Amino acid sequence: MTRILAITNQKGGVGKTTTGVNLAASLATAKQRTLLVDLDPQGNATMGSGVDKRGLHATVYQVLLGVKRIAEVRIRSESGQYDLIPANRELAGAEVEMVELERRETRLKEALSEIATDYDFILIDCPPALNLLTVNGLTAAQAVMIPMQCEYYALEGLSDLVQTIKKVRGHLNPELQIEGLLRTMYDPRNTLAQQVSAQLLEHFGGKVYRTVIPRNVRLAEAPSHGVPALKFERHSKGAEAYLALAGEMLNRAATG
Ligand SMILES: Nc1ncnc2c1ncn2[C@@H]1O[C@H](COP(=O)(O)OP(=O)(O)OP(=O)(O)O)[C@@H](O)[C@H]1O
Ligand SMILES: [Mg+2]
Repeated sequence: MTRILAITNQKGGVGKTTTGVNLAASLATAKQRTLLVDLDPQGNATMGSGVDKRGLHATVYQVLLGVKRIAEVRIRSESGQYDLIPANRELAGAEVEMVELERRETRLKEALSEIATDYDFILIDCPPALNLLTVNGLTAAQAVMIPMQCEYYALEGLSDLVQTIKKVRGHLNPELQIEGLLRTMYDPRNTLAQQVSAQLLEHFGGKVYRTVIPRNVRLAEAPSHGVPALKFERHSKGAEAYLALAGEMLNRAATG
């Protein structure tokens, strides 16, 4: 059974891409066949996977427009030991160009169905917006993983996202679940972070991953080398946190 997760938060810079790259590499380390889909014109997940976004002939853009099959654009992240559907700035045009197309919300879902059986996990790195690309991600996914920083406005942003998830459930993907909320860039000495974290646990309970991702400079440095943190410094706090997250997810799956 393939598990397809959309990593989503319309707020920018909360750790979506860092989670996509490092979780994909951690799942691969745990012998899970993993695919990472870059659904952001920034192409950060592509670069962070060690693939130069500027030199690509075909990306997820052509797949969404229906001019390439998804298997044709799939490449290997050698540094992460997972497969990648890359993206670059071309994808910024898709939003406008897809408006004219039929079935524009289900294009990623249909494409992924061609290769899904090759994988145990498919992670979709969504852009920081509740736009048509993100809707494609949410429609293709079984569940949403929400990385968030424990800041003052975090809970407010969350209610917009929950509304969008409800809309997608209503029209496009009735089965869509919230897989979990992930506390990122966490600083346990910060009182506000502690308070927001406590509120999250109160509101979302078991949906909050027990694993917390700390603020760790290795996680921020690794992308400039095109490697996940576990290849950059295996025993860094950041790399170990993402390995623990993969373990938590696999445990949850095993115990239901
Ligand atoms: N746990 C962490 N510790 C330190 N730095 C981090 C951590 N997580 C992410 N960062 C850094 O914070 C920045 C934003 O992270 P990232 O790109 O993963 O967020 P994002 O949600 O994907 O952003 P965007 O919304 O622009 O796509 C990056 O420079 C990244 O290296
Ligand atoms: Mg990102």
